[in-house]
Amino acid sequence: MRVLVTGAAGSLGRTVTVGLADRGHEVVGLDLLPEPEGFEGGWHAVDCADADAVAAVFTAQPLDAVVHLAGNPDESSLPEALTSHVVSTAALLDAMVDQGVRRLVYASSNHAVGGVPRVDTVDAATLPRPDTFYGVAKVAAEALLRLYADRYGFDTVACRIGSFRSQPESVRELATWLSPDDAVRMVEAALTAPAPGFAVLYGVSANARGWWDLEPGRGLGYDPLDDAEDHAAGVTPGPDDAAETAHVGGPFLAPSMRRPALD
Ligand SMILES: NC(=O)c1ccc[n+]([C@@H]2O[C@H](COP(=O)([O-])OP(=O)(O)OC[C@H]3O[C@@H](n4cnc5c(N)ncnc54)[C@H](O)[C@@H]3O)[C@@H](O)[C@H]2O)c1
Repeated sequence: MRVLVTGAAGSLGRTVTVGLADRGHEVVGLDLLPEPEGFEGGWHAVDCADADAVAAVFTAQPLDAVVHLAGNPDESSLPEALTSHVVSTAALLDAMVDQGVRRLVYASSNHAVGGVPRVDTVDAATLPRPDTFYGVAKVAAEALLRLYADRYGFDTVACRIGSFRSQPESVRELATWLSPDDAVRMVEAALTAPAPGFAVLYGVSANARGWWDLEPGRGLGYDPLDDAEDHAAGVTPGPDDAAETAHVGGPFLAPSMRRPALD
């Protein structure tokens, strides 16, 4: 499968591009940043929110699917978040319509449901409850995925990623960790699942302390194999642990994250 990976120079992108190539896929990278040393495959240094530039990427080579990881993973103003996550997704989806590319795997976030109190397992039917403007933008990007699946019959998979790290770094991350190997398993499953239509899965490893329902992912072929518990001895408890585990979104619920929407 020839796959365009956006955000290919980023933290997730570097892991996913190598992992997909190892599994026999042909990877084309896209990022604002230049091609990392050693990257094998085509590369486009392009702003994903620039529809003309994105359209040109799609005419440069045939593609089978898109993995959309480009975007600012932190809180920002609402307009910045919408450009980073929603306009970029729209530019890709419109280029896919034009070029007949029918599958998009999206790096959504736990912050799309971050405002949910941490009392029950969170599953794919959990209603959107963003904790930040970042979370609002992820919800809106997921809505675009749904729209293009309904309108054009696309397969669009929103992966609500927990905490992608080489190792869990806090007590909360013992529940939310997504290991590098599981990230590759997740993306490949979402790329190859037969006819998922619009689907949501939780992008976390098989953590013993996990909060989220892994069955929607397993239904798409994502079987996580790693468990943050194997790293628990290396995690030091901190003073914010109780607050960080009170809601799905953890530290994004902190008062310090509050800001005006348009500043
Ligand atoms: N890392 C996590 O734990 C986590 C959790 C949930 C969701 N996500 C989502 O996964 C995606 C990747 O996250 P990450 O941790 O790798 O972030 P990152 O900042 O390491 O990488 C993002 C990459 O996207 C590129 N980029 C940003 N805006 C762009 C644009 N407009 N056009 C082209 N390239 C652009 C950046 O240059 C960077 O290389 C993001 O959408 C983020 O919201 C990450």
